[in-house]
Amino acid sequence: MRNLQAVILAAGEGTRMKSDRPKVLHSICGRPMIAYALDLAASAGVKQPIIVLGHGADEVKPQLPKEAKAVIQSKRLGTGDAVIAAKKALGGSAGAVLILYADTPLLRRTTVQRLIESHFKSSATVSLLTAHLADPTGYGRILRNENGLVTGIVEEAEANAAQRAIREINVGPLVCNAPALQGALAMVKPSAARHELYLTDIISHLARQEGTKIQVARVEEVAEALGINSRAELARAIGVIRQRIIDTHLHNGVTIEDPHSTLIDYGVTIGVDTILRPYTVIETGVSIGKRCVIGPFARLRSGVALGEEVRVGNFVELVRTKVGSRTRINHVTYLGDAVVEEGVNIGAGTITANYDGQEKHQTHIGKGAFIGCDTVLIAPVKVGAGAVTGAGSVLTKAHDVPAKGVVVGVPARPMDHRAPTGAPAAPAKAEQAPPERRTDGRVKAKPAKRKTPQARRRPSRAAAKRAGRLARRTRVKPRRPRAARHPKRRKAKR
Ligand code: UD1
Ligand code: CA
Repeated sequence: MRNLQAVILAAGEGTRMKSDRPKVLHSICGRPMIAYALDLAASAGVKQPIIVLGHGADEVKPQLPKEAKAVIQSKRLGTGDAVIAAKKALGGSAGAVLILYADTPLLRRTTVQRLIESHFKSSATVSLLTAHLADPTGYGRILRNENGLVTGIVEEAEANAAQRAIREINVGPLVCNAPALQGALAMVKPSAARHELYLTDIISHLARQEGTKIQVARVEEVAEALGINSRAELARAIGVIRQRIIDTHLHNGVTIEDPHSTLIDYGVTIGVDTILRPYTVIETGVSIGKRCVIGPFARLRSGVALGEEVRVGNFVELVRTKVGSRTRINHVTYLGDAVVEEGVNIGAGTITANYDGQEKHQTHIGKGAFIGCDTVLIAPVKVGAGAVTGAGSVLTKAHDVPAKGVVVGVPARPMDHRAPTGAPAAPAKAEQAPPERRTDGRVKAKPAKRKTPQARRRPSRAAAKRAGRLARRTRVKPRRPRAARHPKRRKAKR
């Protein structure tokens, strides 16, 4: 087995990001930037990568896998100094070292693998990755002699006008034989312009040594070379990765009606023949079965798993929710921390009240249930298989609905058997049936009118009198008669 170690440089401050967060923790399609570099090291077969941390190390550490070895660069004195900080962790191994920058997330695994392969195959001392950019501003330029052999890398800050015109740039990652790396690093002096130890300076030192071989590999596509130093570059990187994710799903048999308005994070699985309609946002960790239709304007957040032929329509947000096959959640709904079994119909405006201000609680909706429009489910609560909730009902905490039960109202109660569902509503006044007549032609006496709720709330005459007496008795100062209080009004009335 070949002997390869990896060092990921992630100690920089990222000043140009103008951020309180370490640069490598900025998110790209649902994962921090550093995760992409960790992926590259893993795909190169390195089990225990060394990560050089500095600025915000305490925040970055929890994001690293257990196997990673974090080392601290106490002062940010440049990329060369960062590799020196990893010297102890590297040990005295005679193998090769892969150095990756944590701010080049667009690099493809295949590109880095090719760089490593060619390094070992050609027995090179050091192998670089380069790209030809239309605008090389900001990158280190590759210097070559008249024979086309690499003689060094000059950084933008140190380059003269002729060197700045060079369009071949250093992408960043390199593979170097460990002893040669340590020897060359020892020779690097602080740069004139930035007083930093540049890792890239090892190239000119190695080029001058007898018997060294400098190998160059190219990126597959120019976009891979993008280094993230500013928010604008971060936005570009997000755009590129998003497109790659979209392309993968299209390739796998998913219809995406409008790729420009569909945002799919890293780590989402989608079954074949599923259709994503425009303005749909799918976050990391979501899985969607076959033949589903999602959107337009749907948002699926982490912990969502949909079965097959599920429909999620407009203005629906789901989080930590499992949905069984053929369930329909078509309009304006929020379901959080829920299990919805198969064949359920969720009416428009359904909301799970899953958070009580302190904890999140579960909602369970059984197979074939019918949730009426505008139902609020205050979790924890269960709706049994085949149960029905009436439009506008509010299911309160722990008042579960049994299988096939029917509940209505606020708070929801079992439906009254005397008024089964489907009973016709009372006809409107204008269309009311003519009064019933007896056989002798006289109008039948109407049954006594039931009091309306308002009428019931009005106090009876006796009660009003009692209240008046009480008021008179308790009054401190008797009120003068109305006319005495408003003499002008009295005159006017006359
Ligand atoms: C670097 C390269 C440049 C290359 C470009 C590609 C050097 C001197 N220059 O320039 O040739 O074209 O990347 O994107 O290497 N870091 C540390 N400690 C430090 C300084 C930096 O760990 O003291 C880390 C940063 O966190 C970052 C990486 O090293 O992940 C690169 O540093 P950065 O300052 O961004 O280098 P560039 O100027 O972009
Ligand atoms: Ca950079």
